[in-house]
Amino acid sequence: MEVFEAFRKRHSYRFGYTDQNVSREDLVKIVEAGMLAPSGKNCQTTEFVIIDDKNILDKISQMHPSNQAMQQAKAYIACIVNREPEAVYEGLAFEVEDCAAATENMLLAITSLGYASVWVDGWIRDSHRNKEISGLIGLPDNKVIRIILPIGVAAKETSQPTKKDFAQRAWFNSYKKV
Ligand SMILES: Cc1cc2nc3c(=O)[nH]c(=O)nc-3n(C[C@H](O)[C@H](O)[C@H](O)COP(=O)(O)O)c2cc1C
Repeated sequence: MEVFEAFRKRHSYRFGYTDQNVSREDLVKIVEAGMLAPSGKNCQTTEFVIIDDKNILDKISQMHPSNQAMQQAKAYIACIVNREPEAVYEGLAFEVEDCAAATENMLLAITSLGYASVWVDGWIRDSHRNKEISGLIGLPDNKVIRIILPIGVAAKETSQPTKKDFAQRAWFNSYKKV
């Protein structure tokens, strides 16, 4: 899929998945796309745990009552950062931004490969859920899951919500001046 088509087709999918599995080959491709993203000072801070073990999938699937994609995912990608981000440039840390860039690359790869996902962030920040999933994947205390992506083949046809027009959000040379 051409990259601009992927930009348009990518959207947050929170409905059910078909029974089709996500191959390890595709999961590796998706995570490799995340690893190609830019990162502050090229520190490549985000780490990834790909979850496709049935026992762990079953446990996570019971945790999100309102998101069918989280309930029926054939795999999850947990994006991991340091609990205490390290400053790498003029006292600044970029780990959350690194993670966000990797996540968008992965969402575009997921779309290109014919799967659907959603950027789950607010829900995973809850300390109880985060701890529970961290325990399932053996995460040490100094690391935290910052974003989790459910992956599968969409059972329902959905599309990207309408985005604001160019003229509402972008200008040449002068803010809000046409
Ligand atoms: C930083 C960030 C956090 C998000 N957190 C969540 C979340 O916790 N749960 C969720 O269902 N969607 C989450 N989303 C997805 C947004 O709701 C979604 O991108 C937005 O509604 C626009 O829809 P689209 O992705 O289909 O274009 C998040 C997106 C971003 C960029």
